[in-house]
Amino acid sequence: MDIKAEIDRRTQEIEKIIGSYLPKEEGYQKTIMEAMNYSILAGGKRLRPMLMQETYRLFGGKSRVIEPFMAAIVMIHTYSLVHDDLPAMDNDEYRRGKKTTHAVYGEAMGILAGDALLNYAYETAATAFEMEPENPAIGRAFIVLTRKAGIYGMVGGQTVDVESEGTHDMTREKLDFIYRLKTSALLESSMLIGAILAGATKNEQKLIEEIAGEVGLAFQIQDDILDVTSTMEVLGKPIGSDEKNHKFTYVTFEGLDKAKADVAEISERAIAHMNTLVVKNEFLTELLRYLISREK
Ligand code: IPE
Ligand code: IPE
Ligand code: MG
Ligand code: MG
Ligand code: MG
Repeated sequence: MDIKAEIDRRTQEIEKIIGSYLPKEEGYQKTIMEAMNYSILAGGKRLRPMLMQETYRLFGGKSRVIEPFMAAIVMIHTYSLVHDDLPAMDNDEYRRGKKTTHAVYGEAMGILAGDALLNYAYETAATAFEMEPENPAIGRAFIVLTRKAGIYGMVGGQTVDVESEGTHDMTREKLDFIYRLKTSALLESSMLIGAILAGATKNEQKLIEEIAGEVGLAFQIQDDILDVTSTMEVLGKPIGSDEKNHKFTYVTFEGLDKAKADVAEISERAIAHMNTLVVKNEFLTELLRYLISREK
């Protein structure tokens, strides 16, 4: 399988779906729609909607009900980045090869664009209820979408991440907690929603959530590695952001070599878990392997 070509093909498909759910730029408040669309259309790997759609396919999902959820997870993820880049947080000026939203629209609009994206994510996902009013899985999926983004998920992780800046008493347990929440939670959300909407069993859902947790952990460790080893040109965001903000990362904790080895090990573990499922999706397995050596 030419994994790069397959990823490109799916990315184009995902762009179309996302595009169909973006707000029109109109009315007195049109600046906020422009800022939302700017941040979303700046690009990004679209990993979360890809994992969602492929997990949906893995369990035999065939309906378009997955699409509003794919758009919603992109909105939530993008909002998390818009706020993560704000001066009060990581204070970064580039994202996805472009100026960050607050750098273009100002700080107030950056805050509001994040708020708007989060709310619009739920407005968008809620349209699934109208598509299939009799489908009980949509309610479950909606609960997962909201919970994994909040205080027991991404926002919770970002809270401890910010509070831990500059501290010297970081433990491996606390670092794992931060990564599980700030990064794994949205990947768990993505894959679990795919599984739920496709009608996977409770046991399958549990396994998928665990796999996504591992994928998220490896993904964040790789993000930390690239913050040290990559370039702004390749990454599309400033390198050295973690050092600038006195972050305690997996790399500062374990060193670069151990971090790299752990990305591979954790990812292989996730793939092995995936292989215990009766259902198969070769692309999904290849995608997880591809992520180990991702350069951006
Ligand atoms: C960046 O996520 C934030 C992390 C959780 C590391 P991505 O690396 O998926 O960002 P985009 O969407 O491709 O820009
Ligand atoms: C961010 O972690 C995770 C989020 C929930 C946004 P980072 O702060 O390391 O993400 P980047 O490197 O800015 O993308
Ligand atoms: Mg951050
Ligand atoms: Mg950041
Ligand atoms: Mg980072």
